[in-house]
Amino acid sequence: MSEKVISADKLTKTFVSKAEELTVLNGSSFDIYRGDIVCLLGISGSGKTTTLNLIAGLDTPSSGRILYSGSNIGEWTLNKLYDFRLQEIGFIFQEFYLLEHLTALENVMVPMILVEITEDEAQERALELLTQVGLRRKAMNHPEELSSGERQRVCIARAIANHPSILIADEPTGTLDSKTGDEIMNLLLGIAQQRQMTVIYTTHDPYVTKLANRIFLMQNGLVVENGQSSLDNLVFDETNFKYKFKGGKT
Ligand SMILES: Nc1ncnc2c1ncn2[C@@H]1O[C@H](COP(=O)(O)OP(=O)(O)OP(=O)(O)O)[C@@H](O)[C@H]1O
Ligand SMILES: [Mg+2]
Repeated sequence: MSEKVISADKLTKTFVSKAEELTVLNGSSFDIYRGDIVCLLGISGSGKTTTLNLIAGLDTPSSGRILYSGSNIGEWTLNKLYDFRLQEIGFIFQEFYLLEHLTALENVMVPMILVEITEDEAQERALELLTQVGLRRKAMNHPEELSSGERQRVCIARAIANHPSILIADEPTGTLDSKTGDEIMNLLLGIAQQRQMTVIYTTHDPYVTKLANRIFLMQNGLVVENGQSSLDNLVFDETNFKYKFKGGKT
């Protein structure tokens, strides 16, 4: 059996604002193994991004723990957490978060410069990465000059710049047509396989769902696994253009 890399242990997350207290996660526990390709499904607002942020150490749970190879990230120093996020996690954000005043090349260089390699080396590697994602010819363009698919390619290159072992992609095809979405997913999963990365992604796209080897579902604040066999129970709801599990919610 492959190595357990991520364990979530009774995770809860409640957002507190003046107006309300909103419990998004209600005590979720799950394990992710090296090389897994996990797809996290759930309706809008069910807590997918919240869960990814917790897994990546970008946010802290209200209670419960995230363990990486058995080590509780809640007990790490800020420096250790910073290094971990920079070097072990590649995050592709739902909203891209590219820096608009930088070129595609400079955006890809940012995480490398933060680990203190020389600018020349970072530039050389960023060009290689942009070539790998099919975007070398747009290296000098700014994000506003790129299509959504091209921006997503820059995000992929930036996410893998420091050779992370875990790739987290929050709706990587959310803004793309289905052909471009397929290309992006093929690229993303191809790179992940080549580099033996563990992948966790969210999607609303039924076709993209099927690319995972494990499917997690947000249900009433819990992350529930639907095993491979239950993929056969996944029925496509043509009206809403999404999958439903027979007898269950989306
Ligand atoms: N920082 C925050 N402060 C207050 N509420 C928040 C915060 N972040 C998220 N929420 C709320 O938590 C709930 C879950 O949000 P989240 O972004 O995780 O959903 P999601 O499943 O990713 O949705 P989508 O499919 O639309 O991206 C939402 O009701 C959202 O309004
Ligand atoms: Mg989201």
